[in-house]
Amino acid sequence: MSAWRSALLFVVTLFLGLACVATAGPYTDSAHGNSATGVSRTDMAAQGYVKGNCAHCHEMHASINGQEPAPASGSPSPAALFADNFSGVTVGPYIQSDNFCFYCHTSFGAVQVEGAITNEPYSNTFGGYNIAEASDILGTFNLSNSYHNLYDVQRFAKNKFSFFKDSSNPCVACHNPHLAKRNKEHPADPTFTAISRPTDHENLWGDDVNERMSNYISYRSPYSFGSTSFYEPDGSTSSDGSLVPDYNAFCLDCHREQVPTTQSVSRNPETPAGFLTAINWSGAGDIHGARARYFQVDGSDSPVFRTNPDLPPGSIIAPYDQIPVQGNYVLSCLDCHEPHGSYFTSSYLLRRVVNGGVVGGSGPPSGQVIHQQDFCQKCHTDNHCGGPNGCFTCHYHGSRDKGCAGPWDGATF
Ligand code: HEC
Ligand code: HEC
Ligand code: HEC
Ligand code: HEC
Ligand code: HEC
Ligand code: HEC
Ligand code: HEC
Repeated sequence: MSAWRSALLFVVTLFLGLACVATAGPYTDSAHGNSATGVSRTDMAAQGYVKGNCAHCHEMHASINGQEPAPASGSPSPAALFADNFSGVTVGPYIQSDNFCFYCHTSFGAVQVEGAITNEPYSNTFGGYNIAEASDILGTFNLSNSYHNLYDVQRFAKNKFSFFKDSSNPCVACHNPHLAKRNKEHPADPTFTAISRPTDHENLWGDDVNERMSNYISYRSPYSFGSTSFYEPDGSTSSDGSLVPDYNAFCLDCHREQVPTTQSVSRNPETPAGFLTAINWSGAGDIHGARARYFQVDGSDSPVFRTNPDLPPGSIIAPYDQIPVQGNYVLSCLDCHEPHGSYFTSSYLLRRVVNGGVVGGSGPPSGQVIHQQDFCQKCHTDNHCGGPNGCFTCHYHGSRDKGCAGPWDGATF
């Protein structure tokens, strides 16, 4: 059977599918299938297709009144989409035609009738930061040379997850386009989560109460931007993680292993070339995960060598020092990282706003090289050997036994 005929049959199946689900269900509850907020491609809306109709994303080649609606790709695409999922390009910055999703998730030239779809970095939407360095998904991936490399994500996911095909969209490793909801519109309500775990693609992640950061009794949300009394993700007084999906379980579906990268060189000298460090968030892993810390919250029993005697030694600052002081905080990956791309060059997706404050840049280009000491000091007062920009030489995921002013035996991150 020709590709064209199989595409045709596929679309027929698809519309029969639509007829069954159009009234109610997970698709019509989703951001894309919703009759108020959903998909509406300009050329298809002009043909009378209602908002949310599958045909705004799926089409048969050259089939609408004998013409192919924009964007015209000239050939059928896998899953009968209006464009190919991914161009296979190995490095960013990305352009609109590199990824099917970018045809709408961009602020310039979107094929969606309303034009731009606004999506800001995590630091803004859930961190409360008021300066948006990017305002759409294409822009967040293109902020700097630190982003989730789509080629690497696709290549990892197709070897790893059975739902993921050779032609699958790299975004689909983390999102189910038939289910994803608008968390940005309801930041205090994770039943509106936008993500699906790659190990559970047919379900949303975070919508059930046992899928939240409150799974970790010693989690505490960071402060919201500019505040010392309100917390992420919604700027309210809730701080136990019950309003946030369990991002640790989500990210670790991939990162509990060494993932391949063409983009970055691991900080960890023990990680083989071409891979990133496997993140161990268990009690036997990192201190920012479930491993117990060595010192008091105020650092009073820390032997760590200070450069500034006016500062308490290595203390952990608010809200992580509050009563009841937990014995062993567990942080969320997204307390420190962005999911799509970072403002900071070569900085492993680190956030612009951490624990309520803006992390400064330390150098060109455009001040976008991260100031490492400033990053750590969003949650710590300590500042010793190697500063201001040598902190990551000793402190990185999996780092052990890194002496500063003397020998050190144990975990250092
Ligand atoms: C035809 C246009 C179109 C395409 C193609 C498209 N989207 Fe969307 N997307 C939308 C619209 C419209 C919304 C809802 C509007 C809004 O949220 O402001 C949305 C919302 C979302 C949301 C919910 C969060 C949010 O922004 O509110 C996610 C997640 C999402 N899209 C992911 C994807 C992914 C992944 C792809 C590619 C597989 C994709 N989209 C392709 C139009 C599109
Ligand atoms: C926002 C765009 C969008 C909308 C709207 C949408 N889909 Fe999809 N659909 C996709 C993408 C992207 C894929 C490919 C997934 C992948 O990359 O593996 C897909 C795949 C599929 C598949 C193939 C499943 C598979 O992975 O083999 C079917 C069937 C399907 N969609 C049916 C529908 C139906 C029926 C509707 C309406 C009820 C619909 N889609 C609405 C984006 C969309
Ligand atoms: C490695 C996993 C991962 C990949 C790959 C990924 N995303 Fe996301 N995405 C997330 C997470 C986690 C969130 C939830 C946090 C947030 O909203 O910022 C999210 C949120 C979103 C949102 C909602 C943002 C908002 O305003 O809250 C959209 C839209 C979206 N992603 C689209 C995409 C598109 C399009 C792609 C591919 C070009 C993509 N994502 C690739 C993990 C991923
Ligand atoms: C579907 C698998 C998958 C999931 C889920 C995933 N990642 Fe990744 N991640 C990868 C792959 C593959 C790479 C290597 C490509 C690269 O370096 O960008 C990577 C790279 C990274 C990097 C290094 C980026 C750089 O600058 O090179 C960081 C940091 C990261 N991921 C954090 C996260 C966080 C935080 C989450 C959860 C929100 C997450 N990842 C979820 C697959 C995944
Ligand atoms: C978002 C807040 C946050 C950021 C950013 C942060 N930390 Fe931490 N850090 C913590 C918390 C909370 C703990 C306590 C963990 C525990 O109780 O197990 C901690 C613990 C530690 C410890 C272990 C202390 C002990 O008593 O054993 C070290 C070392 C450390 N951090 C170093 C760093 C360095 C270096 C940076 C910068 C690269 C950094 N941290 C960035 C919050 C943070
Ligand atoms: C040469 C290695 C080395 C460098 C460089 C280094 N550190 Fe450390 N740091 C250590 C060791 C060793 C410890 C004690 C182990 C621990 O707390 O887990 C430590 C502990 C810490 C702690 C936790 C102290 C406590 O009492 O809770 C913080 C915070 C910290 N360092 C921040 C920084 C910052 C910020 C920089 C950069 C300005 C930096 N470190 C550079 C080796 C180093
Ligand atoms: C306290 C802040 C903090 C938290 C929490 C955190 N990270 Fe990181 N992460 C960093 C810093 C700083 C770097 C850059 C230094 C390095 O390479 O380790 C980094 C680097 C990475 C890298 C690149 C590793 C490499 O080989 O260089 C990955 C992948 C990553 N993080 C994933 C995660 C995941 C997944 C989680 C949650 C389970 C997480 N991070 C939680 C601060 C954090």
